[in-house]
Amino acid sequence: MIIARQQDVTDVVLAAMDRAPSERLRTVMASFVTHLHAFARDVKLTEAEFEFAIDFLNRVGQATNDSHNEGVLFSDAVGLSTLVCLLNNGQDGATETAAALLGPFWRANAPPTANGGSIVRSPTPGPALFFEGRIRDAQGTPVPGVRVDVWQASPAGMYENQDADQADMNLRGVFDTDAEGRFAFRSVKPAGYPVPTHGPTGDLLRAQLRHPYRPAHLHVLAYKPGFKTLITQIFVDDDEHLESDVVFGVTRALIGDFRKGEGASPAVDVTGEWYNLAYTFTMEPGEAVLPRPPIK
Ligand code: BEZ
Ligand code: FE
Repeated sequence: MIIARQQDVTDVVLAAMDRAPSERLRTVMASFVTHLHAFARDVKLTEAEFEFAIDFLNRVGQATNDSHNEGVLFSDAVGLSTLVCLLNNGQDGATETAAALLGPFWRANAPPTANGGSIVRSPTPGPALFFEGRIRDAQGTPVPGVRVDVWQASPAGMYENQDADQADMNLRGVFDTDAEGRFAFRSVKPAGYPVPTHGPTGDLLRAQLRHPYRPAHLHVLAYKPGFKTLITQIFVDDDEHLESDVVFGVTRALIGDFRKGEGASPAVDVTGEWYNLAYTFTMEPGEAVLPRPPIK
């Protein structure tokens, strides 16, 4: 068909894509093109805006490297990562879920750590944190043998890969749940931090007068064959940015009960301020798939 007017374009493109052997590819691309064209018509996208958008897309790619993933950051900042997470967890979006977005800072191969051990691998000033996790299945039965990856920012609000003062893999570790589905570790209380704003996502946040902060949190990735991999975050309950997380990751179920310790801490060498956090995770039945690490 020869295109005669703007109204024809969408149908012509849809017809051109209709022979793809993969049914899923046909479904996804037909919907994508339909919505994309409707969007361009809706805002009457100008040529200058179109050029800007292409440049933005190119800059997202150019800003991505082994230690920074601008594509993930952009998806996070427009709420797409959280939407996809909520659509695919909690019985496919039907119920509340313990899942949250992965974010760009997960690294594979964090050090295996004994239950109760410390993930503080170089001097990291700040209040100590004693974490006790439990993993249950949907019926409330403890799940042993879950591989649990944890990672977090320091009390200064930096991940080790962003901070020359921290040892490699500081505040990262991998645990196995015991026979009662428990895992525990010692760390430091994380602080909130600004997401990286040197790339095009930062430009967008500034243009929208949005602050770049995430409320303080711990990341958890729980993996065991037979269960849907649980990727989540536990948030510090008194953080000032809980209601305005720049990447929309906070749900009520994920706000932790950080209890300030009184008296002697559980570790003889912790004499200053310390906190305790207990949290129970529920894993859904499903496929145990690991995401691709966003950075190396
Ligand atoms: C994070 O929590 O690590 C994170 C998530 C989204 C954007 C930036 C950082
Ligand atoms: Fe984080």
